[in-house]
Amino acid sequence: MSDKKFYITTPIYYPSDKLHIGHSYCTVATDVMARYKRLQGYDVMFLTGTDEHGQKIEEKAKAVGKTPKQYVDDVVAGIQDLWKLMNISNDRFIRTTDDYHELAVQRIFKKLYDQGDIYKSTYKGKYCTPCESFWTESQLVDGKCPDCGREVHDAEEEAYFFRLSKYSQRLVEYYEEHPDFMEPQSRLNEMINNFIKPGLEDLCVTRTSFKWGVPVDFDPAHVVYVWVDALSNYITALGYMNDKYDDFEKYWPADVHFVGKEIMRFHSIIWPALLMALDLPLPKKVYGHGWLLLEGGKMSKSKGNVVDPVVLCQRYGVDAIRYFLLREFPFGSDGVFSNEGLITRINSDLANDLGNLVSRSVSMIEKYFGGTLPEERQADPLDDELIAMVGGLQAKYEEQMEKYAFQNALIEVFKVVSRANKYVDETAPWVLGRDEANKARLATVLYNLVETIRVCAILLTPFIPSTTPKIFEQIGAGEEISQYASAGIFGLLPVNVTVKKGETLFPRIDMAKELAELEADRKAKMEAAAKAAAPKAEKKEEAGVVSLIDIDDFAKVELRVAQVTACEPVPKADKLLKLQLDDGMGGRQVVSGIAKFYTPEDLIGKKLVLVANLKPAKLRGVPSEGMILAADCGEEIKVLFVDGAIPCGSKVR
Ligand code: ME8
Repeated sequence: MSDKKFYITTPIYYPSDKLHIGHSYCTVATDVMARYKRLQGYDVMFLTGTDEHGQKIEEKAKAVGKTPKQYVDDVVAGIQDLWKLMNISNDRFIRTTDDYHELAVQRIFKKLYDQGDIYKSTYKGKYCTPCESFWTESQLVDGKCPDCGREVHDAEEEAYFFRLSKYSQRLVEYYEEHPDFMEPQSRLNEMINNFIKPGLEDLCVTRTSFKWGVPVDFDPAHVVYVWVDALSNYITALGYMNDKYDDFEKYWPADVHFVGKEIMRFHSIIWPALLMALDLPLPKKVYGHGWLLLEGGKMSKSKGNVVDPVVLCQRYGVDAIRYFLLREFPFGSDGVFSNEGLITRINSDLANDLGNLVSRSVSMIEKYFGGTLPEERQADPLDDELIAMVGGLQAKYEEQMEKYAFQNALIEVFKVVSRANKYVDETAPWVLGRDEANKARLATVLYNLVETIRVCAILLTPFIPSTTPKIFEQIGAGEEISQYASAGIFGLLPVNVTVKKGETLFPRIDMAKELAELEADRKAKMEAAAKAAAPKAEKKEEAGVVSLIDIDDFAKVELRVAQVTACEPVPKADKLLKLQLDDGMGGRQVVSGIAKFYTPEDLIGKKLVLVANLKPAKLRGVPSEGMILAADCGEEIKVLFVDGAIPCGSKVR
């Protein structure tokens, strides 16, 4: 075993829904890095997993009539299938519901409590329910959650706190001494200006308002909440404070944590502080990558704008998707995903440049030499530039890979692929092939081409790992000369190499046809989803009278008491009123078709019943998050007002 170690992690994903292509982005990048380091001879530990506790999961499970564990088991199985499909080579997969992790979290918590780094107090703050995050006043953006932009509300409860403030100075010193700790560098300024400078406050690390979490063993009304549970996965998965694994000494500290930019704060402030408290070394680097956006913003299920990686892999192949993700967008910045962009990239780089280079080179060796090159050679100064570029490629590639600049690494490789295609045009093998006297020159040209392909394929292996073995086979490169170490040397293929034409590596995609199919597919899916969501008439009481539903179906509807805090007519819509509601969860806006029956003054201050989990919609362009209950009374509509003493947010059942 090599003594070169490399420990790399993805964030652990929330199994609250199927993952989308944005989640795959980070996992593919991590996989590429892990494969690259393995090729270089490192002993790699690549960890990924799922972050399974919390209120959101508890609520989701309830809504579909499952226990939280049943719910996460199903979603996690889908996530693991996705990683298999995408050829993700993780060495370990941690679930925060794994026994060994839960035990270790309790031990970590107890240790920090015993040494005074965790203490009990009362939390008063601004809470964002969807993000399960408390924020300080100074962290809010326009009074809203800095992560998701939604309303926050005042919350207060008995809780345990981690003494984050105590580590403020040490953190700043650490950043100064380790200027490469955070990347890209812009993230460091963001962290210092937005979080450290305003002053770090102690961090609330338990909750009592839900149960689905690791209980504090010495005070079980509390569950360890989010970050102490989630972040410690990076060490418990190596066996820290548990007996499941025993390679903590070997792999810790991590070489790099890849994380999305919105969770940089947790990884570059809270996580290092927790490690300082545990007296453990800090990870060498935290890399905050950008987001994949769709027009209109970040992909999210609640916005209904997710792109399903399974569909993409099935249509275009896993390697094409892996390549696209890392070639199209600089890793540290946001990028906008589009089907056109994807198809263009596949057609231009993979089908036209790489695929065509392999297929034409191999075909010509078959055509002119029956598949095996002769030994005679005739060099020409025309060859020099290509050979020099191939010779220098590995070093350039490594320089970029070591900076996690995947896009630039691929650009370097494809510069050589393009140069090789140009070399074909310059040398015109089809002209050489006309005259037997040019045999040695033709063999040289074709050899230079397959040798260029060999080197490029080695360097592309981390990105397109199921394609490059096919390339090696086609160009007759045996295992020994397909290794990473042999990418730095030009001329390793045998002089009399034998090639074998194979399948087309990346078939060209007909853009117009493909886009039309994708659109039809999207529509069909939306219709199917709408049908599935429509209430099912499972049993009719009397023909045509009432459809009966199960209690589980009813439980899917979340009814809550809310108070109208403001109300106004919607301009140019004589039936609609726009209501601002205090729903006990931070407030929301609902548009209702009751303007003919109520004035705003009739409603302000009243309490009513809100359907709280309805998908957001727009009525006459005005966003509405939910619906209020009203009764049809002949020509009239009457809102169901409720007792003013019922607190806002109370569930109705
Ligand atoms: O944050 N583009 O989990 P998560 C790029 N459980 N990356 C995206 C993305 C997009 N459109 N959408 C999501 C969590 N991600 C915590 C992590 S780690 C100890 C705990 C990325 O499932 C996101 O930036 O919400 C994050 O890094 C990762 O997916 C997991 O997100």
